Amino acid sequence: MINVAVIGCGYWGSKHVRVFHELPQARLAAVADPSEARRAHVERTYPATPTVADYHDVLRDAAIQGVVIATPVSTHYQLAREALLAGKDVLVEKPLTDNAAEARELCLLADRLGRVLMVGHTFMYNPAVEYLKNLVSSGALGAIFYADAARLNLGLFQRDTNVIWDLAPHDLSILLYVLGAEPEAIRARGVSHIGARRQIDVASLDLAFPGGMVGNIRVSWLDPCKVRSVTIVGSNKMAVFNDVASDEKVRVYDRGVDLPHQTDSFGDFHLSYRHGDVTLPHIPAAEPLAVECAHFVECIRERKTPRSDGWSGHQVVQLLEAAHVSLARDGASVPCIPSPEESNITLHPAARGRETSSRDADRILVEAALD
Ligand SMILES: NC(=O)c1ccc[n+]([C@@H]2O[C@H](COP(=O)([O-])OP(=O)(O)OC[C@H]3O[C@@H](n4cnc5c(N)ncnc54)[C@H](O)[C@@H]3O)[C@@H](O)[C@H]2O)c1
Repeated sequence: MINVAVIGCGYWGSKHVRVFHELPQARLAAVADPSEARRAHVERTYPATPTVADYHDVLRDAAIQGVVIATPVSTHYQLAREALLAGKDVLVEKPLTDNAAEARELCLLADRLGRVLMVGHTFMYNPAVEYLKNLVSSGALGAIFYADAARLNLGLFQRDTNVIWDLAPHDLSILLYVLGAEPEAIRARGVSHIGARRQIDVASLDLAFPGGMVGNIRVSWLDPCKVRSVTIVGSNKMAVFNDVASDEKVRVYDRGVDLPHQTDSFGDFHLSYRHGDVTLPHIPAAEPLAVECAHFVECIRERKTPRSDGWSGHQVVQLLEAAHVSLARDGASVPCIPSPEESNITLHPAARGRETSSRDADRILVEAALD
């Protein structure tokens, strides 16, 4: 039995608490949250689970092997670093950190200490996303032309982040996983319509992959309809994952446009449009978060590298930073790995005010721990 503690029991952390409580191969050993109300909620729902206000109590408990960090993103780096240094295997909610330099440090630290570092890219554990990935990798869709992901809703506006850092990590992790490719360049556009803090609330990202494949991501806190969809268009077939559908979430369309075998000067006018069958594959239902948490426990027990390891979290944070460079350049195409000089404009909104000296101090402490 693997003992796991959850640090941060707000909206999403409380789902981790429920899942770990139900997972047969793990024991929910503690929940840490400074909020008395949040602790009281856990105590009422799970009277046998100890709660603590100070996460240091969890880190000091030698019986606890795995720690889930489900706190606001600005705290992820500090908490994850302390947990790794305390000898814990760590699952950090998305995004891994609010800047790529600190994400990289966590990955190096976990590698050097031989600890599991996993990021909560929940959609990589969604059976429908897994199905899409298999469709792409098996060649069933043919050559992939483009992928389009949309994550739109009215709210929830967040205080300490913008819509790109809040929602796009999901779609970036989906596209990277499903397409099995790394983008070379990114363009981003975003607008802030609401709120005194002027956080971007509507945005679109365009990813350029090798070979001309394109990825589009649209995210919005300001849309009348809840949309959660991923469309993959290939030369043979097309597939749509509609996550708000109650069932039949994936549809595979045998549709496309074929070039005539013999083209003449008017060849373009003789394209043939294929309207074949629409297949509704049976995809066994499973709660993605439960699959993710079971995978974390398996990685702890078997010392395996997680499907969504720290480096995949680092890659997503790097893309979020590159998106901010593009935003600052009015949507220009920028390389997916921004230069260090650009880091001042690439930081997550919550990280911008932080002292550089405290980051340097953290780095020196990590280095010292590794020596
Ligand atoms: N994977 C997903 O689908 C998904 C969905 C929603 C949120 N999230 C992520 O989960 C994380 C938390 O988001 P949320 O919406 O639950 O936020 P939230 O504000 O509802 O909850 C955060 C909780 O962390 C607690 N907290 C703050 N500092 C703490 C500390 N030092 N020690 C212990 N607890 C502390 C707060 O008291 C609060 O209860 C974020 O990283 C977010 O991006 C992931």
